[in-house]
Amino acid sequence: MLLQIILTTLIFNSKGQREVQEGEVELPVAWALQAGYRMLDTASAYNNEEQVGQGVRRSGVPREDVFLVTKLGLHEQRDVLAALKRSLARLNMTYVDLYLIHNPVAIKEDTDEFDVIDYVDTWKGMEETKRLGLAKSIGISNFNISQMERLMANSEIKPAVLQVEVNLNLAQNKILEFTKAHNISVMAYTPFGSLFLKNTNAPPPRVDNPILVGLGFKYNKTVPQIALRYLVQKGVIPIPKSIKKERIEQNIDIFDFELSDEDFDRLSEFNQDYRTVWPSFWQNHPYYPFEKKDVPDPDLFLTGLHET
Ligand SMILES: NC(=O)c1ccc[n+]([C@@H]2O[C@H](COP(=O)([O-])OP(=O)(O)OC[C@H]3O[C@@H](n4cnc5c(N)ncnc54)[C@H](OP(=O)(O)O)[C@@H]3O)[C@@H](O)[C@H]2O)c1
Ligand SMILES: *[C@@H]1O[C@H](CO)[C@@H](O)[C@H](O)[C@H]1NC(C)=O
Ligand SMILES: *[C@@H]1O[C@H](CO)[C@@H](O)[C@H](O)[C@H]1NC(C)=O
Ligand SMILES: *[C@@H]1O[C@H](CO)[C@@H](O)[C@H](O)[C@H]1NC(C)=O
Ligand SMILES: *[C@@H]1O[C@H](CO)[C@@H](O)[C@H](O)[C@H]1NC(C)=O
Repeated sequence: MLLQIILTTLIFNSKGQREVQEGEVELPVAWALQAGYRMLDTASAYNNEEQVGQGVRRSGVPREDVFLVTKLGLHEQRDVLAALKRSLARLNMTYVDLYLIHNPVAIKEDTDEFDVIDYVDTWKGMEETKRLGLAKSIGISNFNISQMERLMANSEIKPAVLQVEVNLNLAQNKILEFTKAHNISVMAYTPFGSLFLKNTNAPPPRVDNPILVGLGFKYNKTVPQIALRYLVQKGVIPIPKSIKKERIEQNIDIFDFELSDEDFDRLSEFNQDYRTVWPSFWQNHPYYPFEKKDVPDPDLFLTGLHET
């Protein structure tokens, strides 16, 4: 697994995912590769795999130097091989470096209705994609510890990677202990947590937090760089998303400094096990991986806004 920070390409607004505009993803992907990123995280659900593939070709970086990650959609779990072939066709590539089950929750094709498919069965399809060489490695996203235990007890190929939310608000220490013991690499999604959110009751820190600003001065780095460096030193692989060239370049410029143990510990104290990405509308599915809560508005999805 390359320990490189990643550019990712999902476009969200406060109501969740919005439509990707023409060129909106292709150019940032090319900028990122030119800035030194080598891992890209996409998904069938993001509706941007075509642009990601075009961005790779546009960048001039050879395909074999890129670590391309895509994901099996919630609607696609009944035929994993066919789903990956569709992704490859959109990417215009012959293989992916890593294929992830996006979520243990499944939805019926062309509907919003839950489907109940055992993720252990879905994993058999994932194993087939690896045996065929269409995915160099396979993994999971949004699985909890008991689901990982059950998956590993019932499978031949172990997941190489778990992709879950990790950031200053959500340390995931139990999960990280588990993945370390089982040699599973962790990709940290939503690495900025609630840092940039406005009008939210999410716990601190925000980007103007005095402790973070102070550390920025101390290390001559921006607050987002401090937040990403914290994750690198925590041993996870952050996958920050930006479509702005200056920020893409800023977010990878974190490998020339090191937070002291004391400052790392200070940053760890922000943790309140607060989930910024909270897909509450799936919580009645039998394989919903997260803690269940009373839902003020079951249509709200992301970004801490659910608490305002
Ligand atoms: N597996 C899953 O279920 C799952 C779920 C969520 C996310 N993910 C993955 O994780 C990736 C990142 O997560 P995310 O997009 O939720 O959150 P994120 O990367 O923590 O935050 C993205 C937001 O931060 C802004 N931003 C980025 N760099 C900045 C900087 N240096 N200064 C100020 N603002 C900055 C971006 O705006 P601009 O783009 O305008 O710069 C965007 O609004 C996604 O793209 C996706 O690949 C996976
Ligand atoms: C697919 O990739 C090949 C190079 O690998 C390129 O020649 C071709 O134009 C691409 N097709 C599309 C539709 O982008
Ligand atoms: C994890 O990897 C290390 C080093 O490769 C190895 O010694 C250890 O046995 C592995 N542990 C598991 C649980 O696979
Ligand atoms: C601080 O960082 C900026 C931007 O990376 C750089 O131009 C400047 O030389 C740095 N200052 C010091 C004192 O290292
Ligand atoms: C893990 O997921 C299962 C559903 O597969 C659920 O029953 C269980 O409560 C979850 N565990 C935690 C700690 O949320």
